[in-house]
Amino acid sequence: MSHQSQSPLSAGRSRALSGRVRVPGDKSISHRALMFGALATGRTRICGLLEGVDVLDTAKALQALGCPVTKVLGRGVGGLAEPAGDIDYGNSGTGLRLMMGLVAGHDMRVRFVGDPSLSRRPMGRILKPLMQMGLDVSERGRETLPLTIRGSADLLPIEYRTPVASAQIKSAVLLAGLHASGETTVIEAQATRDHTERMLRHFGAELAVSERNGGRTITIAGDAELAARDVVVPGDPSSTAFLVSAALIVPGSEIVIEGVLVNPTRTGFYVTLKEMGADIAFRNEREEGGEPVADVRVVHSRLKGVRVPPERAPSMIDEYPVLACVAAFAEGETRMEGLSELKVKESDRLAATAAGLAANGVPAKVEGDALIVDGCRASGSVRGGGTVATHLDHRIAMAFLTLGLGADRPVTVDDADTIATSFPEFRGLMERLGATFAAPEVVR
Ligand code: S3P
Repeated sequence: MSHQSQSPLSAGRSRALSGRVRVPGDKSISHRALMFGALATGRTRICGLLEGVDVLDTAKALQALGCPVTKVLGRGVGGLAEPAGDIDYGNSGTGLRLMMGLVAGHDMRVRFVGDPSLSRRPMGRILKPLMQMGLDVSERGRETLPLTIRGSADLLPIEYRTPVASAQIKSAVLLAGLHASGETTVIEAQATRDHTERMLRHFGAELAVSERNGGRTITIAGDAELAARDVVVPGDPSSTAFLVSAALIVPGSEIVIEGVLVNPTRTGFYVTLKEMGADIAFRNEREEGGEPVADVRVVHSRLKGVRVPPERAPSMIDEYPVLACVAAFAEGETRMEGLSELKVKESDRLAATAAGLAANGVPAKVEGDALIVDGCRASGSVRGGGTVATHLDHRIAMAFLTLGLGADRPVTVDDADTIATSFPEFRGLMERLGATFAAPEVVR
C-alpha cells in the first residue's frame, strides 16, 4: 500500500444504529488458511476469506514463492520456491512473522521489506527461535526490516518458551516445526489465540496440546505432510468490535452482527463489555469450520468503568484502542492493565490511544503498561472535535471514528486509508447501520 498522501476522514454524532450485517472473514484465520493451504498437497478452497490488503499481501507472497493462489493450490510441505524479488509485506506483522516461520523450512533466500510501520516493529522475537532451528539471517544482529533470511530443509526441532504472550511467535515456530526432523514444542505462559493449532489439525498435522510445564504446551510432529482441506473463515471479532462499540455508545441503537468468531481465545473484549454493563448476547451459537461462531446482538447501554486484568490481554489484544474509546462514555474510571505488547503493534497503541483521547477532551493517562480512562458519562458527554494521528494504524483510525459517532463534535482521523488493511468494508457497513462519515472540511 502506498502512503504518499493521507486521506483524512471525520465521523460526527450518529442517529441510532440499526440492522443486521455480516463482517468480513477473520484476519488471523485468513492468513493461516492461505499459508497452510500452500503447504498442503492438493487444492484448498477457502470460503469467506478476508480480502483486506494484509491478507492479499500473504496471497501475493505465496505467488512469489511459486504457489498459485486463485484458489490455493498447495505445493506440499517444503515445496515453495525462491522468489525472484523482495517480498513486500506492507503493513502486516502477522503475515510477515508467520511467513518467516514458513520460509524457515525451505532451502532458499528471501528478502522481506515493508511499510514504515512494519519496518519499525521488532522481528528479533521471531528470528531468535527460528535461528535456533537453523534459519540464517544475513544482517546479523538486525531485528527490523529489511531482512534477508535463508531457510534450511534440515531444521532442528526445539523446545521454546515464548518470552511474551504472542500467537505470532507460537505460530512461526510451529510452522517451522512442520519441517523439522522430530518434535517441536512451544510453551506459552498465557494461552493466546489457537487458530494455528486448530487449523494445522484440520490439515492433518500431528499436534498435542496439554497444560503442563507451567503453561500451555503444544507439540508438533516434524517431517509433516498436510492434505488440502476446505476452510470456512468466520466473521472477524476484532472488526465486529467497532460495530458493537458504536451501537453501545450511540443512544437508541440495536444491531446484530451475524456469523462472528467467538473462540474463547478471542472474546476478552466481549467479557469486559458485559462487566461494564453492556447488553450483548451471543445467539445461535454453532460451530463452523472447526471454530465456534455466533450472531452477536448488541443494544445501546449505560456503561460503568471497570478494571481489566492483565491476564485478559491476549484474548483482546487488538481491541484495547476501541475499548478505551467506549470507556470514555462510561461512568467512572476504566483501568486496563498489562498492555506492554500494545507498544509494538502497527503503532505504539498505548501512546496513540492516550493521545487520541486527550485530543478529544477525554481524560486518559498511561501508567507503566496500564491505560486509565476517566469516563465522561457522569458529566454528560464526550467533547470530541479533535484530530487523531493514526501512525499508519488501521485500528487507531477505526477506534476514533467510532468515538466520533457518539461525541458532541466530529472526530477526525488524519488517515483512513490504512483501514483497508483489515476491514475495507468498515465505512460501508457502518453507513448501512445508519452512521455518516465525511471528508473533514464537509463535516460541521
Ligand atoms: C495475531 C496475533 C496478535 C494480534 C495480531 C494477529 C495472529 O499479535 O495482535 O493482530 O494472527 O496471530 P501477537 O501474537 O504479536 O500478540
